[in-house]
Amino acid sequence: MAPLPVPLPVPLPVPLPVPLPVLLPALGLLLPAATLSPPGPEQLLVLTVATEGTEGYERFLRSARRFNYSVQTLGLGQAWRGGDVAHTVGGGQKVRWLKAAMAGLRERQDLVVLFVDSYDVVFAGGPRELLAKFWGAGARVLFSAEAFCWPQEGLAPAYPPAPGGKPYLNSGGFIGFAPTVWRLVERWRFRDDDDDQLFYTRLYLHPGLREELGLALDHHSRIFQNLNGAIDEVVLKFEPGRVRARNVAYDTLPVVIHGNGPTKLQLNYLGNYIPAGWSYEGGCGDCDLDLRPLEGVPEEELPWVLLGVFVEQPTPFLPQFLQRLLHWRYPPTRLRLFLHNSEVHHEPHIAAIWPRLRRRFASARLVGPEEALGAGAARDMGMALCRRDPQCQHYLSLDGDVALTHPGALRALLRQNRRVLAPLLSRPGQLWSNFWGALSPEGFYARAQDYVDIVQGKRRGVWNVPYLSHAYLVGGAALRGQLGEGPVFTRPDTDPDMAFCRHARERGLFLHVTNREEFGHLLVTSGYNSTRRHPDLLQLPSNPRDWEEKYLHENYSRIFEENLYEQPCPDVYQFPLFSEQLCEELLDEVEHYGRWSQDHHEAGAEAVALGPLGLEPAWLGALRRFLPPVTRKLFPGYHPKGRAVLSAVVRYRPHPPAPPPPAHGPPTATISLSLALSPPQGGGWRFPRYDCGVPGPPPGWALLHPGRLTHHPEVLPPPAGTRYALLTLLDP
Ligand SMILES: *[C@@H]1O[C@H](CO)[C@@H](O)[C@H](O)[C@H]1NC(C)=O
Ligand SMILES: *[C@@H]1O[C@H](CO)[C@@H](O)[C@H](O)[C@H]1NC(C)=O
Ligand SMILES: *[C@@H]1O[C@H](CO)[C@@H](O)[C@H](O)[C@H]1NC(C)=O
Repeated sequence: MAPLPVPLPVPLPVPLPVPLPVLLPALGLLLPAATLSPPGPEQLLVLTVATEGTEGYERFLRSARRFNYSVQTLGLGQAWRGGDVAHTVGGGQKVRWLKAAMAGLRERQDLVVLFVDSYDVVFAGGPRELLAKFWGAGARVLFSAEAFCWPQEGLAPAYPPAPGGKPYLNSGGFIGFAPTVWRLVERWRFRDDDDDQLFYTRLYLHPGLREELGLALDHHSRIFQNLNGAIDEVVLKFEPGRVRARNVAYDTLPVVIHGNGPTKLQLNYLGNYIPAGWSYEGGCGDCDLDLRPLEGVPEEELPWVLLGVFVEQPTPFLPQFLQRLLHWRYPPTRLRLFLHNSEVHHEPHIAAIWPRLRRRFASARLVGPEEALGAGAARDMGMALCRRDPQCQHYLSLDGDVALTHPGALRALLRQNRRVLAPLLSRPGQLWSNFWGALSPEGFYARAQDYVDIVQGKRRGVWNVPYLSHAYLVGGAALRGQLGEGPVFTRPDTDPDMAFCRHARERGLFLHVTNREEFGHLLVTSGYNSTRRHPDLLQLPSNPRDWEEKYLHENYSRIFEENLYEQPCPDVYQFPLFSEQLCEELLDEVEHYGRWSQDHHEAGAEAVALGPLGLEPAWLGALRRFLPPVTRKLFPGYHPKGRAVLSAVVRYRPHPPAPPPPAHGPPTATISLSLALSPPQGGGWRFPRYDCGVPGPPPGWALLHPGRLTHHPEVLPPPAGTRYALLTLLDP
């Protein structure tokens, strides 16, 4: 994305707070004469601490780069000995490192040093704004402030009053002139796991020193926003072309946002929009940084990926799911497959395609229901296969109820270059998706402000979220690094996805979901009756997209686009309606049922009504959806109501049974529709009034004509073989 054209508004001149005149003489001593304006960006150095290049650190650097901060990182690659600061006191090691760094800078009168944590910090504004605000504060070292007196609550009364502001010092961020910062840190003589915040607090609370060194707190978050205890004060302010975090309690625009204490997820949320990269118009700001180019990379240099597929429940349209795996735009030589299926019902579906899957993947391994592996254990097994294989660079976990219809999905995910990245998937027309925007205090789903906009694609980008499921790519570095040896998916009292996400969050791994492209959708699995022979036939109401893909004729839309229909006799039309797959499955249901009887509507044929098979509602539902557009075109002015006198599969054979006893008067249906279920075998229908014969269309095509008052056809049995059709008399 192009850099934002508008510079950030720096509120200049900054109104100076009252105590400044008192401090001015002191400042005058420290600054070169006649420098009564803020230092320039070239006089600012950002010092931070990171022992590992976590994603939090990478995010910090990205935000620093965006605003052109010059950053020096202390401690990279060294062992952390500063204690478990997430849960208790510690952090002294940071002061030791800072002391070492400042020793070389202590003479630099003109240098301003900003010290900040990195894993849980992002910049929301640039150096000029920062320096102007620091200058305006009139301090020589300005610490961030917060609402909690930590780690020694007992020190609270020793603090000077801070009416209306945050009273207590937080050492996660401070800014000061180099010589003064040195005079603080040179006093450090403590252990690495002693508390850094307590150290700075004691110096600040020493009244003589506070005045002598010009120490102050940023009570109103003009520069530093600590989120702990202030979540409700910070809102995102969307403006054309940019987003800024605003503190609404103080009406300030903080420059450094710090997700301290238990506010990591809130920082992740804000970090999706700031630093100022994201806009309604331009999509996401950080999305295009650190992309991995894949175009033009030779096949043998593409990353190795293990695909783990999990069929853990009876799932509609699984054969379609398996079929799609054959058509990914990724070379077979770089893909392995691990498939866990816990459903006996799906064994034939998998067996039918397994030989082709084995050819499609460099290797393929199947673990079936007989191994009685739990859902969590199966996922741990799949992930471990990649972790232990030194060749394996990425692991893509994919559930059987995902319709990943974008054949280039894997490439798109790889290109984005994140450690954990899920394609956004939702149930069509619903808000149900494969991610959560926020967590409830109990660790379950909570609705984030932007959840609906993201699911509906009104905001697009790569989003750092607390929970994702169904499909996600995990990079080898995370697999062998932060995620650890596992088990990752098995935890008491949580399902495998929640266990995975919690594990990742606890280890500081970011979970990302992307909706930059359309990847596919989620299926509805409830109401799938796996005891039926062909349960997918009944899935139109639950999973309309998948039903259409499987059962609608592939040329159905050409009826409207290209007038793909025929009129073999007056007012007799034939056109493509449903797929051969639907014909086969219907026939199979009927043959299995097998109770043929004489057809009372067509002399010389045998029929099985759909009603007793439990298929009539599904059939009529499909007709109500797909027939009216056709009848509107062929019989303008006629609107089918979709009520049927009859829907039955009819069998035509060379030697018809004796004609049935006369029907009770002519049937009064408005139209008659006959869907060919088998190839025409000769024979067909004859319309005596028009002296016109129709041999019968190909399978999946429908023959449609007005009711029998005008169009009472004679059946012509096939000379040999058997012909099947599904006859429906509509709208009595
Ligand atoms: C950062 O520096 C580059 C190169 O000097 C410049 O083009 C860009 O405008 C700067 N960005 C900001 C936000 O100052
Ligand atoms: C599932 O299908 C079987 C066989 O057709 C049927 O007996 C049963 O009632 C169906 N169950 C439900 C919940 O629809
Ligand atoms: C759809 O139309 C195309 C082009 O005429 C044809 O090749 C294809 O076989 C048709 N599909 C089916 C299922 O009949």
